[in-house]
Amino acid sequence: MSRLVIFSLCFTFIDLVRCQNVLNFQTCKQSDPNRDECLKFAIQDAFKILENGVPKFNLPPLQPLKLEQWTITAGKGVNFIQKLSNIEMINHAKSTIRKVESEISDNELSLKIESTNPVILFKFDYVFENAEIYGESVSGKGRVVMEHDNYTETLSLTGKVIDKDGNRYLSLTQVDVHYIFDDTIFKFETGDAEMDKKLNRIFNQNKEEILENLYEKYLEIDNYLYTNVASAIFSLIPYDQLFPK
Ligand SMILES: *[C@@H]1O[C@H](CO)[C@@H](O)[C@H](O)[C@H]1NC(C)=O
Repeated sequence: MSRLVIFSLCFTFIDLVRCQNVLNFQTCKQSDPNRDECLKFAIQDAFKILENGVPKFNLPPLQPLKLEQWTITAGKGVNFIQKLSNIEMINHAKSTIRKVESEISDNELSLKIESTNPVILFKFDYVFENAEIYGESVSGKGRVVMEHDNYTETLSLTGKVIDKDGNRYLSLTQVDVHYIFDDTIFKFETGDAEMDKKLNRIFNQNKEEILENLYEKYLEIDNYLYTNVASAIFSLIPYDQLFPK
């Protein structure tokens, strides 16, 4: 394992003061016989570096992963449009990397990263209009916190190397996310205690079916966020520096 230190350019005195923090990623050699084990530690370490983000390098924070807005289309079981905003996914930065499987060549890379976390929180503001589920109206707006317990996630990244400004960078061609968890608890905050009770009852009593119907749609949000973070890293650091031969 070795360290890759990236300095940002400092032109003025004020920049010099700010430039004290540099990126310091662990890297793993393509030819390392224990490459997957090395990557396990390197990725865990990168989570720490990225926890609060590094604005100077345009790297977004992992804690929390944030998204301004998203619309979930009507579908089976949950047949009304869900407008989400101020979306936050909390605790991913604290996940434990359990296993990494990698295929790395001169021009292509695929990584499969398995991680676990005792508790992941998914929070968002919502607007439900003309919304009915299990014969009850759930129209209105508020904030919801979903707590996933004992969360296991597999993230697969595939990419190929492209030339940009005389350097070689990884460009992602596919990102897949899958997760399982033992339990989920919905907690609604609408400002109306009666409504909170009603929504909590409906969603928690039917959570298995609701989550099954929304699983793919939630995955799209995870997918979007992970793609953002991974692309930010891969378009910042040349491939041959991240994965030296
Ligand atoms: C968490 O989930 C994993 C995978 O589903 C399972 O093997 C493990 O026993 C669970 N852990 C706890 C503490 O329930």
